Amino acid sequence: AVDLPLKGKSVLVTAGGTKERIDPVRFISNDSSGKMGHAVAEAAWESGAKVTLITASSLDVSENITVARVESAEEMYDAVSSRFDSSDALVMAAAVSDYSPETASPHKMKKQDQLTITFKKNPDILKEMGNRKHSSQCLVGFAAETDNIEVYANKKLKEKKADLIVANDVGKKDRGFNVDKNEVIFFSQAREPQIIQLKEKTEIAKDIIDWISEFLN
Ligand code: PMT
Repeated sequence: AVDLPLKGKSVLVTAGGTKERIDPVRFISNDSSGKMGHAVAEAAWESGAKVTLITASSLDVSENITVARVESAEEMYDAVSSRFDSSDALVMAAAVSDYSPETASPHKMKKQDQLTITFKKNPDILKEMGNRKHSSQCLVGFAAETDNIEVYANKKLKEKKADLIVANDVGKKDRGFNVDKNEVIFFSQAREPQIIQLKEKTEIAKDIIDWISEFLN
């Protein structure tokens, strides 16, 4: 029999690295390809959920999934915020820029000897949704770390009021940003940390969806 544990549930997923504009032709961003988040969205659909993917990546998305393409952290915040209350789960796989230029120039900037850009802090989408969420909603965040993974992941679990933090080591070339594989550790309040060994992101995504299914059912 086909098992669809997320039938009737709405799942919101974010993916990709946000772009923070400096001027019409330049931006600040990061190495996120969107592969991890897109894999989570596909896995959620395969489990029977109605899925909305908010993505800063230009990767293709299957037609089963509703897509909102965004560029900046601010746009991603608005796209998540307006859909969060009617969602059963939110998975924040996006690499959201913590800062953006205080002002974006409307014209291409001219060459100068020195350039100083002042940055302002962006909203923390995961944290704000953590403050807003009902106990029936499942909130999943990621933690991208290069060291002290356990300490920082547990801090994010608490401070952002997430149900699950998926921690990954982004200091290695064979996992994390912009490759097909990942190795992660699940951190949750109730259980001991669980290591998910290096494998395809499509497989890691299924494990994340299984965790959410258990939480919601
Ligand atoms: O896209 P890929 O190339 O497949 O790479 C996958 C990945 C490495 C990007 C992914 O596995 C990952 O780790 N995503 C989270 C990246 C990140 O921004 O981590 P963080 O530790 O800085 O943030 C912690 C959590 O807060 C994340 O869920 C993030 O989405 C969220 N956040 C962060 C900043 C911010 N302003 N708002 C947020 O919601």
